[in-house]
Amino acid sequence: MNRFSRIVGTGSALPGEPVSNDDLVERLAKLGVETSDEWIVTRTGIRQRHFAAPGVTSSQLGAEAARKALSAAGMEASEIDLIVVATSTPDHVFPSTACLVQKALDAPGGAAFDVHAVCTGFVYALASADAMIRAGIANRALVIGAEVFSRILDWKDRSTCVLFGDGAGAVVLAADTRPGVLAARLHADGRQGDVLCATGTISGGEVVGNPFLTMNGKAVFRLAVAVLDAVSRETVAAAGMTLEQVDWLIPHQANVRILDASAKRMGIPSERVVVTVDQHANTSAASVPLAFDRATRDGRIKSGQHVLLEGVGGGFTWGAALVRI
Ligand code: UT7
Repeated sequence: MNRFSRIVGTGSALPGEPVSNDDLVERLAKLGVETSDEWIVTRTGIRQRHFAAPGVTSSQLGAEAARKALSAAGMEASEIDLIVVATSTPDHVFPSTACLVQKALDAPGGAAFDVHAVCTGFVYALASADAMIRAGIANRALVIGAEVFSRILDWKDRSTCVLFGDGAGAVVLAADTRPGVLAARLHADGRQGDVLCATGTISGGEVVGNPFLTMNGKAVFRLAVAVLDAVSRETVAAAGMTLEQVDWLIPHQANVRILDASAKRMGIPSERVVVTVDQHANTSAASVPLAFDRATRDGRIKSGQHVLLEGVGGGFTWGAALVRI
């Protein structure tokens, strides 16, 4: 019998109250850092973001998003036999954030592990869980993107600290005889690692290297538009479909100009692109499942439709997955 995986529930979590550009401008001014709502909106489309309070972690946000996804799927946590968490801001060196989510859900026994592919993390996690379900290794998976990027931002670097936010998104992926995840394609080019990185590490009880995110924004922009176009076409073709048949494009939410440029290159009209970067800023691995949940709950994404998920980011990594709802 054919064995596939389908998305049967979505959920998300955003910490605290939104922080508007003007709020952020005021906070940064106290540090002697000058920026403006006008610069942030025109360069990125971002209007607000959420920041986790001290002590709030990726696993907590991930568990909250997971509970909502389970509820939407009408499933109990005890029915889950695989948890994959995509994060670059894990709670600890170990145990993994996925193990902490499993503990928070009180659902021991299944497999749990983290995927580290930065802003492409959710697409990598979804493709991994789909492959494991199709291979018969798991039956019901929670696939989560959860981040507290605010912890690795250098508040003195205005070219990066205005761009990111915290949050989590989750989907429940369940084995089915009908295909849900139709195709996924993943890529990386480690030679481009230094365009977007946080190279610090812990050694001998100390932080060694730079613990803050650094980015060559222009280089990332150029790379992102090119690779998103290529991997989207590759993924849709792998499913035997065309871009015209895609009902919704959910790209990684980094910058509205990247979203517009890549959708235009693919010939997908803006009405078919889900945009949340204005509300959440760039939440790295959480951005795609956050946007997915938003467009599912507000009724835009409907049963039977085709949704193309795209990720791109540090590593350098990129990938896409085409799913039928
Ligand atoms: O997950 C992937 C994550 N990363 C991305 O997606 C980022 C991709 N890149 C981008 O989104 C854009 O390159 C940025 C939004 C980061 C920057 O936009 P840009 O149009 O490439 O601006 P720029 O770097 O050329 O900077 C232009 C100016 C500079 O001033 P000068 O040297 O021209 O006088 C910057 O110092 O803007 C200045 N600037 C700022 N001004 C006010 C940089 N950051 C700020 C700021 N507020 N926050």
